[in-house]
Amino acid sequence: MTCWRRLPALLPALFLILAMAGCSSLPGRPGLGPEVQRPSDVMNFGVLYKQNCSGCHGPEGRGGPAFPLADPVYLSIVNDATLRTITAQGVPNSLMPAFARSAGGMLTDQQIDAIVEGMRKNWAKPGILAGVTPPPYSAPLGDPKRGTQVYQTFCQSCHGPGGKGGAKASSIVDGSYLGLVSDQELRTDVICGWPHLGAPDWRSDVPGHPMTAQEIADVVAYLAAQRPKFPGRPYPGQPSRRRK
Ligand code: HEC
Ligand code: HEC
Repeated sequence: MTCWRRLPALLPALFLILAMAGCSSLPGRPGLGPEVQRPSDVMNFGVLYKQNCSGCHGPEGRGGPAFPLADPVYLSIVNDATLRTITAQGVPNSLMPAFARSAGGMLTDQQIDAIVEGMRKNWAKPGILAGVTPPPYSAPLGDPKRGTQVYQTFCQSCHGPGGKGGAKASSIVDGSYLGLVSDQELRTDVICGWPHLGAPDWRSDVPGHPMTAQEIADVVAYLAAQRPKFPGRPYPGQPSRRRK
């Protein structure tokens, strides 16, 4: 039928009609109402979090492949400036992207503030560490040799000998894992645990025997020392080959 044969030619016109039907105003003239919000106008925490973070950090801040942000212990140890900087600039050599426009992302500074505020409002429990002196959020690496002993005392029961995985928890020494995770993230994992998965915080790896700040720094150094020198190079020792 001729009419079908003409369809391709008609498509642009059809598209134009549909597009115009969807517009309430001509370009440049203010519309009747804010039917479609510009992405930079979205300030609602739930929407911003869902669109930008939930794929990795999980819906509601837990249950994703990346660190559970909806952890009140974490939120009482990390400060707003740090949350803001990490969200804005991302973490180099990891899968955490930069979100600030100034760093090539899509979010305005106001939107990043709204996310940080929203995390606090929705997920923090002020006073949850009342009477406790938590280890500092960040600190230099300790001594990897001492860390071996610390690992055996506090971690091996779950992560197995040498960190290669055990009955209760997975490997934390795979090159592909260590190559993509920062020292700070390892530290955060040790201090805060992954509570919804049964990973304890620094106080309860060994019940009644909280880890000292030194022990934390040492065990992080022990893990960091096992990071492959050239992450992403599949055959260690081989010179990297560049494609032309
Ligand atoms: C593509 C996956 C991905 C997305 C999307 C993502 N993150 Fe992350 N995020 C990560 C990873 C992986 C890390 C751990 C980085 C490292 O190794 O330090 C991380 C770390 C973080 C940390 C630091 C945790 C710590 O140890 O203190 C914060 C805060 C954070 N992300 C916030 C956000 C926020 C807010 C969003 C949305 C605006 C977001 N992330 C989106 C993957 C992601
Ligand atoms: C009671 C068991 C238990 C103990 C003790 C424990 N962990 Fe875990 N850990 C877990 C579980 C469960 C997870 C999350 C799921 C998984 O990785 O298997 C986890 C996650 C982690 C992660 C994040 C892994 C990832 O995939 O991002 C790191 C790093 C880690 N633990 C390090 C340690 C270190 C270091 C110690 C000792 C200081 C320790 N853990 C003690 C159970 C434990």
